[in-house]
Amino acid sequence: MGKGIVDLIPEIKNIKDEDLRQKVINVWEEAVTLGGWDVPDQIPFNPDLGPSPSLINHTRSVTRIALSFAEEYERDYGKCIDRDMLAAVAILHDVSKALEIEPGPEGPAKSELGKKVPHGIFGGYLAWKAGLPLDYIHLIITHTPRIAMLPSRLEGIILSYADLLDADSHFFRGKVRTIMERHKFEE
Ligand SMILES: [Fe+2]
Repeated sequence: MGKGIVDLIPEIKNIKDEDLRQKVINVWEEAVTLGGWDVPDQIPFNPDLGPSPSLINHTRSVTRIALSFAEEYERDYGKCIDRDMLAAVAILHDVSKALEIEPGPEGPAKSELGKKVPHGIFGGYLAWKAGLPLDYIHLIITHTPRIAMLPSRLEGIILSYADLLDADSHFFRGKVRTIMERHKFEE
């Protein structure tokens, strides 16, 4: 696989619990292998935007945004966030894209799995298979507005907004329809 997943996503080291950290690594490794990616940083965040940003860029950015916000929020309002949980679900929130997008002769494109299984579900499944607790699976699956279920924990609210912030900044700059636009002008 070339570079290890911890080298590609050093934010994994933020997870203090060793068992949790290893499970997060296992999920990423399995997703990349199942998706048929030899070089994980070639997985795009969104094929409509081209090769950049990569899924790894987006994952790292969302994790850092979420953890920085947690730091600021707790400084002002007191301890109320499970940082290990937040880091783990941020790192895993889009791991299913390793299977929802596939490498192809004309570049990465949406896979059959991506067309038939709603975004996030397979990440939840891989996390469940790796032995992550149900709340983590819940937060991975509910991070996306495509799933009609709200996250039941503060960590899920933070993850969802961190994700939207990074994603919409890329969509806006790439002249692709933003998630904000879809919500403000529902069709
Ligand atoms: Fe995302």
